[in-house]
Amino acid sequence: DLDGVITDTAQYHYLSWKQMADEEGLPFTWEDNHQLRGVSRQRSLEILLKGRSMPDEHKEDMLARKNRYYQEYITQVTPADLLPGVADFLDEARQAGILLGLGSASKNARAVCERLGVIELFDAFGDGYSVVNTKPAPDLFIWVAGRMDLNPRQCIVFEDAEAGIDAALTGGFWTVGIGPEDRLGKAHWIRPGLDGARIDDFPIPAATA
Ligand code: BG6
Ligand code: MG
Repeated sequence: DLDGVITDTAQYHYLSWKQMADEEGLPFTWEDNHQLRGVSRQRSLEILLKGRSMPDEHKEDMLARKNRYYQEYITQVTPADLLPGVADFLDEARQAGILLGLGSASKNARAVCERLGVIELFDAFGDGYSVVNTKPAPDLFIWVAGRMDLNPRQCIVFEDAEAGIDAALTGGFWTVGIGPEDRLGKAHWIRPGLDGARIDDFPIPAATA
């Protein structure tokens, strides 16, 4: 995953939703925001609206505004915004010959990875344009694994979102939850972040023929 794993754009998603919600007089807190982690833009708006009905054009306008605010925030992103330990971890994996795939629900993932300077590291790049059914459906991770000719059991998904862990487990992947136990308790391994992480921390059994 990207947002909340490789870089802390989760806070920019939150600030953008918050600005839009404040303009609309809709209640929205940082705690509410955890439910939106990993969730598509459209689905996030539905969660935020909590069943309130709105004309479709107004919803479109809210989505466009949120995205404008977000795109403004990400112009500030630089390689210094890689979360601690990420650069070393990706480097170690590449040196060990491990393929790297990105599976982000975001349509802005390519722009963010370009700004972070990591786009070239990925052997497969799945974003908000790659599949129709978004997390918690397993489609995106399966799409990314397929691009690398791998079976899900040969892959580990790193995710900060409950929707992302659910997607990966449904798809048959090994999972590392990045964040707190109460949100990510279903993952095979849980860590607060990748700082100090080594690939040997996540031993997966060799795939059987
Ligand atoms: C995910 C984020 O990576 O992408 C979500 O965790 C976000 O918060 C989703 O809603 C879609 O992003 P975008 O950039 O297409 O609005
Ligand atoms: Mg995420």
